[in-house]
Amino acid sequence: MSENFLWGSATASYQCEGAWDEGGRVPSLWDIYLHKNNLEHGDNASNHYHCYKEDIRMMKEGGHKSYRFSLSWPRIIKNKEGEINPEGVKFYHNIIDECLKNGIEPFVTIFHWDLPQYWEDEGGWTKREVCDAYVDFAKVCFQEFGQKVKYWTTFNEPRYYVFSGYLIGNYPPGLNDIPKTIEASFYMMLANAKTVQLFKRLGINGKIGIVHSYSPVYGVDNSLETKIAMRKADNYFNNWILDTAIIGEPPMDMLATLNKKYDLSYMKEEDFNIIRENTVDFIGLNYYARALIKPYTSGESIFRINNEGKKAKGTSKVVVKGWFEQVFDNPNSQYNEWDMEIFPEGLHEGIMRAYKKYRIPIYITENGTAFYEDVAGVDSVNDQGRIHFLNSHINAILQAIEDGAEVLGYYVWSTMDLYSWKNGYEKRYGLIGVDFENNYERKPKASYYWYKKVCETNGDIIERSNF
Ligand code: NOJ
Repeated sequence: MSENFLWGSATASYQCEGAWDEGGRVPSLWDIYLHKNNLEHGDNASNHYHCYKEDIRMMKEGGHKSYRFSLSWPRIIKNKEGEINPEGVKFYHNIIDECLKNGIEPFVTIFHWDLPQYWEDEGGWTKREVCDAYVDFAKVCFQEFGQKVKYWTTFNEPRYYVFSGYLIGNYPPGLNDIPKTIEASFYMMLANAKTVQLFKRLGINGKIGIVHSYSPVYGVDNSLETKIAMRKADNYFNNWILDTAIIGEPPMDMLATLNKKYDLSYMKEEDFNIIRENTVDFIGLNYYARALIKPYTSGESIFRINNEGKKAKGTSKVVVKGWFEQVFDNPNSQYNEWDMEIFPEGLHEGIMRAYKKYRIPIYITENGTAFYEDVAGVDSVNDQGRIHFLNSHINAILQAIEDGAEVLGYYVWSTMDLYSWKNGYEKRYGLIGVDFENNYERKPKASYYWYKKVCETNGDIIERSNF
């Protein structure tokens, strides 16, 4: 195990910062959508904007070598004209400086879902103009922080973001619109390539990648029908991000299918040239669960996600008409309260598949599990379930490294309890508990102390087992 392995944890701007209207920040599409629909929001989130020093000190004391966080576009750029907000820029300089002072490597995500509302008003990611504005925003970030930050990623989970916002409709802008889903996907992947191009042109001394919500695809059996469904599901879940960003070519069988039904004429030859020539240096994989697939049988497409928790087995349902169906009730599987299967083998297998196919370095940029936990009533949450989950997943990574994969870092999701989008604050992922009712008091959980030992021994205390 390399001594340079980056052990860390991760957050995202909207989910932890709070201070939604402080320091010159303008609204993001989440602020407007959540306020308008009277939903639980991230106005104060975990109050990281005010507590970042304490949080980074706890990372250091917790053995962390790296911190993955995102830059908030609406905090940095005030308007469509691209006016910079100096206070916002200063805030991220402070975070980065604090990390460096504490020996913690900043691992920066440029976009973790908080699009400024002024761009949403123009049509958001379905517009080429927004794709170009993103690249301008990235340029400001490179120019400001490029001397200090060595690890950059363009997007966090473009697939999850686009599908939730444009196809499933449970995230803003809340649409069920296939043509817009394809458009937004395309412009995000084009923005990724254009940003990689810019990064290289500016000669930033560092590496740039993309973070993907990785769902390794498994089939219910070995039949040909299942294999065909698996290929379609792999395109849907993984290939259109990973092939496009790493090989420089989207899955053509998928594009051919879509092209028969939808107008894709906005995808220009010069766009594909940019995509082909500007591929990423590494991949960040966020791993929570595999996707278990069976062939499509009948009926319309269904996209239903369990945002309620409470062991609502059966709530989640994904059917993509003519393509595949996803299985959420395998009798041999274990699920958490939100219908997420607990399947560490999938992480080992997923890393091996990705490494054999793409041959570039991998960081596990998110991994973790959620529980309902009573933080207010105790000094420290004894989250043995999380320790068990993390141990089994880190074991999977260690095994993949032994099997030859180049995995260079691991980030627990999340550093502290935070705002879990439509799942609100009840869905807790943190190594550090946050008492949201009592001054955002930080209370390290048992997993925080356990993970400290993992970081400090470079993984030696992980209980090992074979799959
Ligand atoms: C992935 C996302 O990047 C993050 O924002 C989210 O909260 C976690 N998964 C947990 O669902």
